[in-house]
Amino acid sequence: MAPKHQTKVAVLGLGYIGLPTAAVVARSGAAVLGIDIHQTVVDTVNSGGVHIEEVDLDALVQGVVQRGLLRASTQIERSDVFLIAVPTPCDDDHAPDISHVLAAARSIAPVLKIGDVVILESTSPVGTTEQVRDALEVLRPDLKFPHAGNGAAEIAVAYCPERVLPGRILVELIDNDRCIGGITPRCARKALAFYRTFVRGACVTTTARVAEMVKLSENAFRDVNIAFANELSIVADTMGLDVWEVIKLANRHPRVNILTPGPGVGGHCIAVDPWFIVSAAPEQTPLIRTAREVNDKKIHHVIARATALIEANPGVPVACLGLAFKANIDDFRESPARLVAATLARKYGSRIRIVEPYAAQLPREFEGTGASPIDLDAALEDCGVLIVLVDHDVFKSVPLAERSRHAVYDTRGIWPDQPGQVEQVGLRLVG
Ligand SMILES: NC(=O)c1ccc[n+]([C@@H]2O[C@H](COP(=O)([O-])OP(=O)(O)OC[C@H]3O[C@@H](n4cnc5c(N)ncnc54)[C@H](O)[C@@H]3O)[C@@H](O)[C@H]2O)c1
Repeated sequence: MAPKHQTKVAVLGLGYIGLPTAAVVARSGAAVLGIDIHQTVVDTVNSGGVHIEEVDLDALVQGVVQRGLLRASTQIERSDVFLIAVPTPCDDDHAPDISHVLAAARSIAPVLKIGDVVILESTSPVGTTEQVRDALEVLRPDLKFPHAGNGAAEIAVAYCPERVLPGRILVELIDNDRCIGGITPRCARKALAFYRTFVRGACVTTTARVAEMVKLSENAFRDVNIAFANELSIVADTMGLDVWEVIKLANRHPRVNILTPGPGVGGHCIAVDPWFIVSAAPEQTPLIRTAREVNDKKIHHVIARATALIEANPGVPVACLGLAFKANIDDFRESPARLVAATLARKYGSRIRIVEPYAAQLPREFEGTGASPIDLDAALEDCGVLIVLVDHDVFKSVPLAERSRHAVYDTRGIWPDQPGQVEQVGLRLVG
């Protein structure tokens, strides 16, 4: 019997999405080539290491690299499946920037052959997968590309967004349901066959444009609902009410599920992707735009409240707890916590101490401010004012006995037993 053909998969972009995906696909038995434009990333992966923090990723990458199933390069090679997982940021005017996606697509063109499958995974504005097809078609006029109503293409082009939660990426890459959109139904079926090799969740096929909009809708839905919670928290503050109690009791209604307020919305997904919809349909999106603005404004509300607490306790050292954009991860991109802490550091200098167990050093914007890193135990000992900005598990586990004498502003609601939070702002620290 002839040996089974080993599928060759190229993953372009070895970041938070691409590297775990490359490792999981390699574990399923494919020969995976990870491509990145940064030589240091390539060198790290080839040495069996990882440059990002994700639960269990280090051991998985080390294993698949050692078994020869995953290697990395800056140079693309012939493959059967190409997965694009490169960044899709917004520019300063909130317009989507798909230049990295198109650059990645163009880099594939020289090695494409009949039967190949190209899948875009980057969160993208509606129509981007077609633009990937167009970019490839211009460079490879010798190949037949898919167009709606033309089923007989030689290359399949599809879109499949990622829904993983940082910290659970290796589990969710496999267990989450997938929405797979083809430029034609045949493209979707070819991409589906690839995902079935490593995904346990349901794989549902649709068109590329619907799949693109599905991902944007998911993140806009989260943003709008978080904006509601954040707006409530600002209203509750002005009324002197405890928003956590209000939400807890409101959620006892069987059809109400208010999300948790925080210092704003961060990360490169929920804080960015709703703009892709607003940018495509500005007249039709007052709600989505307002939600973005409410969540951005919450950061300034938190800075004002934190400032009031610091001013009410002159000379008292202040610990900002957390810089990450969400709990238990080392990702500081677009993080409201980081923005709040940096603003306070610029204003109050050496009075500000930063506790961030997931950072080896403070980000660059803290340089020259006088603010310094500190561990949690020392912060509880030395700092009379605590500003909770991230709900890391290690912060949640601090018992009341260790923080009862502190003035606390808990933007995440992790310490519901903390006495007098609502009243404390504007008052002097007692004891
Ligand atoms: N991180 C998440 O939790 C998450 C979740 C869902 C969707 N997404 C989406 O996935 C995409 C990738 O996000 P990420 O967090 O992995 O980004 P990232 O910044 O962590 O990684 C992207 C990598 O792509 C590389 N790169 C850039 N241009 C390239 C090119 N032309 N060829 C090869 N490599 C290139 C970069 O050097 C970088 O290492 C984005 O569209 C993002 O919105 C991310």
